[in-house]
Parts: sequence; C-alpha cells; structure tokens
Amino acid sequence: MLRVGEPRSDHPVGATPYAGWVLAVVPPPVTVRVPAKVNLHLAVRDLRDDGYHDVATVFQALSLTDEVTVAATDSPGVQVHGEGAGALPTDSRNLAWQAVLALAEQARRAPDVRVVLRKGIPVGGGMAGGSADAAGALVGLAALWRLDIGRDELTELAAGLGSDVPFALHGGTALGTGRGERLVPVLARHPFYWVVALDRTGLATPEVYAELDRLRATAGTSSGLGPVEPLLEALATGDPRQLALLLGNDLQSAAVSLRPALRRTLRAGVAAGALAGMVSGSGPTCAFLCTGADVAVRVAAELAGAGVCRTVRVASGPVHGARVVEDPRPVPPPEPLAHA
Ligand code: C5P
Repeated sequence: MLRVGEPRSDHPVGATPYAGWVLAVVPPPVTVRVPAKVNLHLAVRDLRDDGYHDVATVFQALSLTDEVTVAATDSPGVQVHGEGAGALPTDSRNLAWQAVLALAEQARRAPDVRVVLRKGIPVGGGMAGGSADAAGALVGLAALWRLDIGRDELTELAAGLGSDVPFALHGGTALGTGRGERLVPVLARHPFYWVVALDRTGLATPEVYAELDRLRATAGTSSGLGPVEPLLEALATGDPRQLALLLGNDLQSAAVSLRPALRRTLRAGVAAGALAGMVSGSGPTCAFLCTGADVAVRVAAELAGAGVCRTVRVASGPVHGARVVEDPRPVPPPEPLAHA
C-alpha cells in the first residue's frame, strides 16, 4: 500500500511520474492470535502494600483465542467485534489501547494505529481476555512498526499493563509468582481437554480478591492449597486423572460466595462426566478437565442442556502465546470507530 504525501518543493523533478513527491510506505495490518488462560493452581497469599496479593499459580493457555489486528491509520482508536463486545470500553480504559500507548511511548512514536479486537475469549470471565488483547496489541504493534524490541522488554511492558499480560505473551504452561507476572515455563507433555462453562454476567477481579480477604478475615484462615510440586509432576506425566486430583484455586470460595449458583454449575459438569471442575481464575467461568476430546464434547453437550450456564465451549491446552497470524481474515471496515 502506498500513500502519496505532499509534494516537496526542494525535490528535483525527474522522469518518473512520482518524482518530486514523498512516497510513504504504509505497512499492511498485522493480526495476532492470542489465547485465553486457565489457572490449574492458584494459591493466593497475603495482601501487599501495593494492593496486590502475592500468588503462586500455574497457568495453561487454552485454544479459545482472540484476534488482534493493528493497522496504521490517520484516525486512531479501538474497535471490538464478537460476543460480549458491547461490554468492553473502546476508549483509554481499554487495555489493548493502553498497550499501544505504552509501546508508542517507548518507541517515541505517535500512536497512529487502529486496533481491531475479534473476541473469542469470554468477556469478564476470569480467562484473561483483556490481558490477551493487550499482549496481542504489543506483539502486533511491534511487528507493524518493525521495532527492534526483545521478548524481555515486551514482557516488562506487559507486566506494567496487568498481572496476566506476560503469560498471554508467553503461552504454553507456566508457573507464575509475584503478582503472577514472573514466569517460568512448565513441562506439560500431552494436550489436556477442557470444557468451559460461561456465566451470564462477569465478575470483577478486584471484587473477588476483596471477597477472599473478607472471608479469610472472618474465618482467620489463609491459603488452603498445598505445594505446587505434585501438580507439576502430573503435568509432566500428562495423566489427566492425576492432574484432576490436584487442581485448586483459592479464589473459588470467593467467587462462589459472590455467585452461589456456581456451585450448581460445578456439580453439573462433574455429573456430566468431567474428571474435575473448578472456577477459572476469579470466575465466574468454570473449567472442567476431561479425559479426552470426545468426552469433552459429550460433557459440553450435557452441560449446555442442563441450563446452568449461558454457553459452553470445548478447548484444549497448552497452546502457544501471542503470535502473528500469517493468513489473517480481512479486517472489518473502520466504522464505527471510537476515538481513544
Ligand atoms: O493486574 P490486574 O490489573 O489484572 O489486577 C486487577 C486487580 O486484581 C488488582 O487491582 C487487584 O485488586 C487484584 N489482584 C490482586 N493480586 C494479584 C492480581 C490481581 O489482588 N496477584
């Protein structure tokens, strides 16, 4: 794509039709696919002075993905398509736009880009969809501008945007410490098959953490989860039955306290044939581990018929983190576009 700029009076006029004009090459849009996550183990420790909790968590990236397209434009902004799109801000509160601003500042460039989000990850569901979009925007913009920026630098920017953003870049299976932003890859030998049950409305992550603090203050308790090592061993062997016994999420009690109907969803998934069910991250999405792909399809069908959730999806993990898509679908037209 070529954009012809203003004629330059100092440029000698030559024989070619464009001589005397500045030709600016506008790079083609870049599309990045980025995964949802589930926390297989989420041990929440004490509240820190900065308002975050120290955690020890094992993330797995799932085959539910968003596509993030970043395109050069004269009218910057964010556009959202797909299920739940209406619930997402398209102004400066959008995490993908914050990612654009952070990288543009680092690169000392104006954020003259349009970000188009195509949602496949449930919105407000505890599967880090907003974090995924931020990671996609970072990778997409770095590719669009051909920035000479390493994975470590991108990860540092990602951590500044949110606790789960580095994992969305990283993908696979990883142990997260600190706020969840310090990652070490974990070996997961075989694919695991999941059913995720999406609730009708989301839960706000800060409210779920605050509910956990309240429950703990009332009961005088702390993290109920054991050490993470047995779960890491189960991942390495690839045995879903062993893994199912070790799944655990400290935020589950808080999510269930705020949304008691989740108990019924969790029971229904196990009754339908899943090995185990758990609230994903801060919820309200519930994730069910199954022995294989065929079982997952059956569990999903039964759960869908049980009337305990809005919709169900089948997914597998681990999948890779944010990556440029080589043969992207056409970018939706630029209208309507909200200016960030
Ligand atoms: O990092 P992120 O912006 O995703 O976190 C959202 C909120 O979740 C934080 O403001 C905080 O209330 C809570 N949180 C926490 N401890 C963490 C991660 C998130 O308390 N490790």
